[in-house]
Amino acid sequence: MAPGGAHVLEEVLVLDFGGQYSQLIARRIRECGVFSELLPATTPVEAIKERKPKGLVLSGGPASVYEPGAPAFPTELLDLGIPILGICYGMQAMVKSLGGKVEGAESGEFGRADLTLRNAGGRLLAGLPEEQSCWMSHRDSVFEPPPGFTALASTPASPVAACEAPDRGLYGIQFHPEVVHTPYGTEVLTRFLREIAGCEEQWSAESVIAEQVAAIRAQVGEGRVICGLSGGVDSSVAALLVHRAIGDQLTCVFVDHGLMRLNEAEQVVEAFGQFGIPLVHVDAEERFLARLAGADEPERKRKVIGEEFIRVFEEEAAKLEDAAYLVQGTLYSDVIESGGSDAADTIKSHHNVGGLPEDLEFELVEPLRMLFKDEVRAVGAELGLPERMVWRQPFPGPGLAIRIVGGEVTRERLDILRAADAILQEEIRAAELYRRLWQSFCVLPVVRSVGVQGDGRTYAYPIVIRAVTSDDAMTADWARLPYDLLEKVSNRIINEIRDVNRVALDISSKPPATIEWE
Ligand code: XMP
Repeated sequence: MAPGGAHVLEEVLVLDFGGQYSQLIARRIRECGVFSELLPATTPVEAIKERKPKGLVLSGGPASVYEPGAPAFPTELLDLGIPILGICYGMQAMVKSLGGKVEGAESGEFGRADLTLRNAGGRLLAGLPEEQSCWMSHRDSVFEPPPGFTALASTPASPVAACEAPDRGLYGIQFHPEVVHTPYGTEVLTRFLREIAGCEEQWSAESVIAEQVAAIRAQVGEGRVICGLSGGVDSSVAALLVHRAIGDQLTCVFVDHGLMRLNEAEQVVEAFGQFGIPLVHVDAEERFLARLAGADEPERKRKVIGEEFIRVFEEEAAKLEDAAYLVQGTLYSDVIESGGSDAADTIKSHHNVGGLPEDLEFELVEPLRMLFKDEVRAVGAELGLPERMVWRQPFPGPGLAIRIVGGEVTRERLDILRAADAILQEEIRAAELYRRLWQSFCVLPVVRSVGVQGDGRTYAYPIVIRAVTSDDAMTADWARLPYDLLEKVSNRIINEIRDVNRVALDISSKPPATIEWE
């Protein structure tokens, strides 16, 4: 939905009972072409009604329906007259409130389970195989559906794994259709969205662009807008969207701190040049390196870079006197997380390095506020952003400065790291692994070791390869890169970079390590 603007597409809302997959439900619904948003389960029914959703999904949650204070099924929802699908806890809360039997079992049902259809799957599961597997994560089970409901399926531990009362628009499933381990999950969701809630396929990259362009125009009018580019996909897509909406009323500012990867700054300048987007490229390498001199402690480096970034940005913004709006690439996951429950412990307090202070006197334009990361990529591709930028792996705001560890960040070390990193990226891309890895990069520990090359003794730096798989950076596993690939990367790095004589592989997962070394 546009900030302050009306949402014109059909939508299905997910009421969040605190389940670990709640966001994923909304994402899957959107993948089925229907806009979906997550709202707290406590949202007043009036507020839901105003939005005129075509259907509701009640998510799973950690509580047992018998715990004191467990969130109840809001029975006023029944008056909305729209279809409701309860998933896991959402189903149990519905069943209990309408007179069915939910009971705690000795052992729960976690992971893959064999699902057998009953009553030919009723309306919700019609046409699916009689026997299929599904993903479960629950302790209580439904033993009897409420009066007027039909049981649709069972598993060994769940006598009623799905039930429905189609005449009342009520549906429940115990399993999780949103996770990939439920092979027919998308079919179940699609059936609910299309056949039952009557939604059409309206949500797509094109519709997001059309909607956001209109919203940005409405918000900004004739105003002047400024956008800070980092080279990452979020700020690039946000800038492209705004430019599509208001053309040259937008000026982008790219603070190039000299801590980017090889050729990355040039790529940003070239891409935005091709779109004809007004871009101020501030080459601030000298300034940043001067400020980083003598700083080798991680927190200090981040602080210095963060402060300098803001200073440079403010100087440039001041030159664009009449700019009243600032574009931010805030994503839907940031919105949910900042409004969500207890923030996870801050392990590194500075993930917003490269961000801007809150007291800048601009009105914010946030065209990605409703989008998940994969949707941002789809919008970027649709807008013509080069493939390299659309699929860029996450890169930290302080850049390579936090990958030179245990010593000062100097131009010489940055060049060594950049060269090694470029080789790694090239080989990872050639092996078609780039998109499958959450991140892949090199680290330069400031220590030297002895080696032998030709007939001579060397005394040079090691390079550490860090490659991880992850869904959200909260946890990560080290990627099992093929030995042949590692061999090639190692040979190339040592042969092509004079100051490196050793390559090591980081095989730590997160936790207990973090993805970055600092
Ligand atoms: P860690 O190292 O904590 O990183 O496992 C998790 C994710 O955050 C990225 N990261 C940063 N991003 N500014 C950023 O914009 C930072 O200061 C920063 N530090 C870490 C990291 O690359 C990984 O994707």
